[in-house]
Amino acid sequence: MKLEGKVALVTGSSQGIGQAIAVHLAQSGANIIIDYRSHPEGAQETLSKVQATGSKGYIVKADLGVVSEIRQLIAEGIEQFGQIDILVNNAGIEKHASFWDVTEADYDSVVNVNLKGVFFATQAFVQHLIETKRTGKIINISSVHEELPFPHFTSYCASKGGLKMMMRNLAVELGPLGITINNIAPGAIETPINKSLLNNPEKLGALLKNIPLGRLGQPEDVASLVTFLASPDSSYITGTTFFVDGGLLWNYQEQ
Ligand code: BGC
Repeated sequence: MKLEGKVALVTGSSQGIGQAIAVHLAQSGANIIIDYRSHPEGAQETLSKVQATGSKGYIVKADLGVVSEIRQLIAEGIEQFGQIDILVNNAGIEKHASFWDVTEADYDSVVNVNLKGVFFATQAFVQHLIETKRTGKIINISSVHEELPFPHFTSYCASKGGLKMMMRNLAVELGPLGITINNIAPGAIETPINKSLLNNPEKLGALLKNIPLGRLGQPEDVASLVTFLASPDSSYITGTTFFVDGGLLWNYQEQ
């Protein structure tokens, strides 16, 4: 198995894409640090699925919007497994509001988790790699909205656009240390983050018309690429965004 002996931390892995990533990495032999903020039962479910593959899992509660909790998360993971080799920055939130109505608290919660959280989780991980003189892999779960406007989600788009440049910058800075970093940019994936869209047949129908492959993505469509980017098969790939969107991004059509 390609990830035998490796340890992966997956932030926000109590549900949705994060849970699928944790299970997929475990299927390839990695032990998993499962992070959650507000769904302990989801984290337990992830743990059972990870253990069912024969890999080990360990749950830590940490809010990626709070830097002290991020540092504690990395420290607990290292204490449990002795090392971390793969960091998947998956935790993310979005808030729907017209630009002129966005509150400071909502702006902060989105940008703190999606951008500042990734920055400081990655920093703590890189410090660990430097201290232990090892290489590692970083995979950020971004969004098609690191490129594509999403009206009424400006803070989300700003955070994902920022994540694109953070990744590019760190690819240059971390390359000499043998550390790779890439983004995966999912399109419309069937997960709890877009529950309101999934429950609105009119909006969903309009969205599906924009997806050339004609369906929503499943969390596993993203997870399989994470496993590839975490494995030695991708050793020469860094600084790149991979779109997993059924063709959504480039599908402008005149009606
Ligand atoms: C957002 C979803 C949205 C999808 C496609 C994702 O990044 O989280 O809410 O449906 O992009 O627009």
